[in-house]
Amino acid sequence: ESKSIPVICIDGPTASGKGTLAAKLAAELGYHFLDSGVLYRLSAHAASQAGLSLDDGAAVAGVTRKLSVSFKNDTILLDGQDLSAAIRSESAGMAASKVSAHPEVREALLELQHSFRRLPGLVADGRDMGSTIFPDAELKVFLTASAEHRAERRHKQMVAKGISTTLESIEQDLLARDARDQSRKASPLHPADDALLLDNSFLSIKKSVQQVLVWWQDKRPF
Ligand code: DC
Repeated sequence: ESKSIPVICIDGPTASGKGTLAAKLAAELGYHFLDSGVLYRLSAHAASQAGLSLDDGAAVAGVTRKLSVSFKNDTILLDGQDLSAAIRSESAGMAASKVSAHPEVREALLELQHSFRRLPGLVADGRDMGSTIFPDAELKVFLTASAEHRAERRHKQMVAKGISTTLESIEQDLLARDARDQSRKASPLHPADDALLLDNSFLSIKKSVQQVLVWWQDKRPF
């Protein structure tokens, strides 16, 4: 029964560093890794390719159910096409946030997300891993950082990639996405009741990983 397979959930807002933290934990523990945001990004991409309006929840859910996704190391393939770079853009994130507000789309991705729960264990990152997808997870972490710190980090990443933007426009985008993710009716972004809060505004990635590993020592079922 997959329920006996350990899961660590890392949830939090845009650019909180949950993806980096979750990937490092998975590598450290030798666990599988689910970046659930990627699935919403792929859903929005497939819907756009099919010429659908992102407002049409039923239609977007239709293509989402048929997504043929595969992950090879850091490469994300949709129907064999490498979309790793395309889905990382800010506009892809905003499109993902839009489709993710439809309950039908969230439902369409449920089974796919559960299928990542395999031995020896899973680290899952997203918005509702602990609150909705894996409610029985042994450890749930809700990662936060001030909007200012998140915008600064995102700005640095983009400058490093040679993309020109301003700190102000990034912070505005983050706040708009937070507002939508928090206010939607279907699984809004909020910590699960039994989540442990981790504010990493002033923590290095290394320290954040160490903190979660300390919690895991306490909570792991074996
Ligand atoms: O984590 P991310 O930036 O890749 O996520 C993109 C969008 O997808 C995010 O703004 C909201 C949505 N999302 C979600 O609703 N539930 C998840 N578990 C993961 C992402």
